[in-house]
Amino acid sequence: MALYTMKELLADARKKGYGIGFFNTVNLEMVRACIRAAEEANSPIIIGTAEALLEYADFDWVAPLMLEQARNARVPVAVHLDHSYQVETILRALRAGFGSVMYDGSRSDHRDNVRVSGEIVRVAKPMGVGVECELGRVGGLSDETGREDSMVYTDPLEARDFIEATGADFLAVSIGTVHGVYKSEPRLDIGLLEKIREAVDVPLVLHGGSGLSEEDFKKTIAGGISKINVFTDVILAARAALLESKDLSYIDMCRRAEEAMQDAVRAKLTLFGSAGRA
Ligand code: 13P
Repeated sequence: MALYTMKELLADARKKGYGIGFFNTVNLEMVRACIRAAEEANSPIIIGTAEALLEYADFDWVAPLMLEQARNARVPVAVHLDHSYQVETILRALRAGFGSVMYDGSRSDHRDNVRVSGEIVRVAKPMGVGVECELGRVGGLSDETGREDSMVYTDPLEARDFIEATGADFLAVSIGTVHGVYKSEPRLDIGLLEKIREAVDVPLVLHGGSGLSEEDFKKTIAGGISKINVFTDVILAARAALLESKDLSYIDMCRRAEEAMQDAVRAKLTLFGSAGRA
């Protein structure tokens, strides 16, 4: 099956009212677990990696690996660059043939976020590459000094002006989710999500998809979310499987971890309503 773009996958999800899962990967086991889970569920999927993960996953091998596996999949797969702060990382993804990139200017001041996001859209758009930007800030990620981001809710009117000014194709919104493991029960502001949905007409993205309930996914997808990003739940599943299989050979440990990740991804695809939509 041909490589799809995030834009194509999210257009169908939006029209039909389901969510598409995005999963970060750093190695062959993760890439294969995602694609096998999508094939098993007969679901479209988006895979990718993020700038911070490139410290482990060298871009020069992880990018061709993802693109090759995506091209050979039996279901539609899009390859996307997640949270990137450096223009250079985004240019690498454009050169490699990714269908979409995320520029995360949520740590910058608002004017810089608008300016740099707009510049990236102007470079990416003529190449047919979609750009995801973030407004407000989803907390939980750590910067290069190790300091954890605080959360700032997305303002609907600011979101409308931001999309108009930058031409961004997808908007990551902050409505109460955080990246990583939740320290307390997640409380999502669905009313705010609906106001953002009314104010902007591009597909909306929910970051911090681990640790949310079936009810949370139902409400956020009904409220206008088209893409849900997941990482932590998948690596926690791999970790648990590795700890349980420490008496096995290295190869069998890898196999168990991959199976656990495949199960975790498949469970999310089912919850998002994308199973059977390939
Ligand atoms: P989690 O690690 O909380 O699932 O968040 C993933 C994410 O939003 C990646 O952009």
